[in-house]
Amino acid sequence: MWDEQAEHPVKIDENGMVHVYGHAETVEVYGDPRNYSNNIAPQFLGDTEDAGEFNSGSLLQSDPPHHTKLRKIISRAFTPRMVAGLEPRIVEITHELLGAADAKEAGGFEMVDDLTYPLPVIVIAELLGIPHSDRGLFKKWVDQMLAAAGVMAADDSTGEQSEDADTAAALRRVPEMLAYLHEHAADRRRKPRADLLSELVHAEVDGARLSDDAVVDFANELLVVGHGTTTALLGNMLLCLDAHPQEMERLRKDPARAPGVTEETLRFLSPIAGSYRLATADTELAGVRVSQGQLLTLWLGAANRDERVFEQPHVFDPDRTTNPHLGFGRGIHFCLGAPLARLEARVAVNILLDRYPTLRTDPDNPPEFLPIPDLIGTSKLPLLTG
Ligand code: HEM
Repeated sequence: MWDEQAEHPVKIDENGMVHVYGHAETVEVYGDPRNYSNNIAPQFLGDTEDAGEFNSGSLLQSDPPHHTKLRKIISRAFTPRMVAGLEPRIVEITHELLGAADAKEAGGFEMVDDLTYPLPVIVIAELLGIPHSDRGLFKKWVDQMLAAAGVMAADDSTGEQSEDADTAAALRRVPEMLAYLHEHAADRRRKPRADLLSELVHAEVDGARLSDDAVVDFANELLVVGHGTTTALLGNMLLCLDAHPQEMERLRKDPARAPGVTEETLRFLSPIAGSYRLATADTELAGVRVSQGQLLTLWLGAANRDERVFEQPHVFDPDRTTNPHLGFGRGIHFCLGAPLARLEARVAVNILLDRYPTLRTDPDNPPEFLPIPDLIGTSKLPLLTG
């Protein structure tokens, strides 16, 4: 796939899906929300906006001007300062999870089940202000949502995009969880606390604020887009370091190298390998005609290895002086959770290397990968520590 881009940065397959492989072409699409819409499943989005109140809280699936205003309000609540304040808890939770893994079995653990799957969901739950006692319940709902995400990806590969995207969008909404989040949003309206749900229900920009429906929508979206991706990034970092032992040693000796390793992993093994847009007009991309109504897949994994942009693109090099990877997207939809994902990656990788001086993959028990073309990550990652 990643060798396609130089000769054919844009291709249309027999189902009419437009595949974008090149970095410049991906940036062009990301930079043109007027012609390339994020609203690929409109009937599920209820883009209704009463005077001064937003009823749909999905950033990812909305376009300007709705998206512009919504992102402004949400950014007022979901701030980098709020994320930075989570660091001590992320350290504690990581140690807690690894402590439980060590107690279960000596000599190794399975990184996805024991660390990278639970960590992001616990962090998002704490960020929102979900009580500790409800963690198990919350995790059960998230499991159901992620299973639905798998349905979407499998169906996308057949090219029958619109119906399948609709089905997946519906499945990604677990009714019990939405009802639960509603209760909590209503509670925070009455009694604000120091948590993201309280900030969201009270955030206001130019007299506009979010309805409870919008707050719940957005909280749900955080889990859809912020969980599996972070799980994948943490596992991918480990894979990259395991394949490059000298980089693992350099990082162990100098934890300040973690941000460089994180960015290079996002480029080299991009968790979100594919992102989607709908053409709203007839356009042209790298000389290829794109018609209104066609769905585009932006293959970020391929764009991140475009040799027109990255020197030696197939080499894992955390010391790249410039690394304009598209792992978090680009433009108006640039990942809002990037500071949180970067923080979790830095904390988790440094703790892992510090706790386990001989951490490595198990040749007799190789990793298994997600069967999803647009998400690069492991579903099982057994590691040896002894
Ligand atoms: C958007 C990647 C973690 C929240 C995006 C986009 C990408 C991305 C590529 C743009 C999609 C598009 O334009 O179609 C990632 C990766 C992550 C990660 C690789 C982990 C390594 C997170 C986390 C959160 C989050 C932890 C929040 C808890 C969001 C939101 C958007 C978004 C809300 C939509 C922003 C908008 O439409 O304005 N992410 N993400 N992400 N991400 Fe992330």
